[in-house]
Amino acid sequence: MLLPDKAEILHLLADEENQDKLFARADKVRQQFVGDNVLLRGLIEFSNICRNNCCYCGIRKDNKRLKRYRMTPEQIVETAKRAVDMGFQTVVLQSGEDMWFNAQRLSAIISEIKKLNVVVTLSIGERSFAEYKAFREAGADRYLLRIETTDKDLYHRLDPGMSWQQRYECLLMIKELGYEVGSGMMVGLPGQSLESVADDLLFLKDLPVDMAGIGPFIPHPETPLAQEKGGTLSLALRTMAVMRLLLPKINIPATTAMEALDPQGRLLALQAGANVVMPNVNEGEFRRLYELYPGKPCLNETPTHCRSCIGLKIKAALGRNCV
Ligand code: 5AD
Ligand code: FES
Repeated sequence: MLLPDKAEILHLLADEENQDKLFARADKVRQQFVGDNVLLRGLIEFSNICRNNCCYCGIRKDNKRLKRYRMTPEQIVETAKRAVDMGFQTVVLQSGEDMWFNAQRLSAIISEIKKLNVVVTLSIGERSFAEYKAFREAGADRYLLRIETTDKDLYHRLDPGMSWQQRYECLLMIKELGYEVGSGMMVGLPGQSLESVADDLLFLKDLPVDMAGIGPFIPHPETPLAQEKGGTLSLALRTMAVMRLLLPKINIPATTAMEALDPQGRLLALQAGANVVMPNVNEGEFRRLYELYPGKPCLNETPTHCRSCIGLKIKAALGRNCV
């Protein structure tokens, strides 16, 4: 099957009318290359403290209205244990760029969690080569760092004080250290063209990534982009489906942001190329305070309920098993 070139990608991204055909094609490729199992990852959002000020993000430093939390190392390891008891074979440790978790502290946490015989994914932003190396040596297997957008001007407008080149170099370091690399972007950012989304897809294909998460931008009321329009679920799904055509073998999550826009968002994604779901395994308040954007699903559920609910929904609606 011929891979779509840039012109074809642009056409597929724009063609809302025929998107069902695109979704069916991506669904078939997904089934052929990665099978029917839906891979579950237990997401531990362990700190909402962040040194950055990304204009789209609800946990940006200047959002003074948000109550901040930082789980203790013991709480993080305990949460990982519970995730393993619930059957998760991978845990994802995600946080804002919270530098309290230096190489020594986070490495100790990673080593503890690795004793549980699980795959550990990190998603904690930009760090130095030495830190990435220390985390890798402590046992971290995978790293998620979204490029957010490949439009450098847009990136520099939306991520004040940050450098696109630096972020790109972080991805190269992560790759060099032998992590499985995950990246991705938001779609529907203010000022983002369809052409730049096509470029994002080609960027992920060139890297190439092992995993790619794509979500609609959702305006958060306590950010400078509060009044902006936000992305649509359908464009996010088309982008994700094209991603599946370009990189048939990678892992693609049905993202939480998709579910935030539509209660069926993740199920729709799983029928349009996605093969991964990342349920939040935090308890209580920690579950509610990681507010990147409004409308996150399942905020008041317990992790055990949420885990079984997702499994049942996927089995009932799609006949697929979660592993
Ligand atoms: N809407 C959608 N996604 C967002 N993210 C951050 N803020 C928002 C928002 N307002 C995404 C970014 C980040 C990931 C963890 O969440 O892509 O990399
Ligand atoms: Fe989380 Fe149903 S999917 S409670």
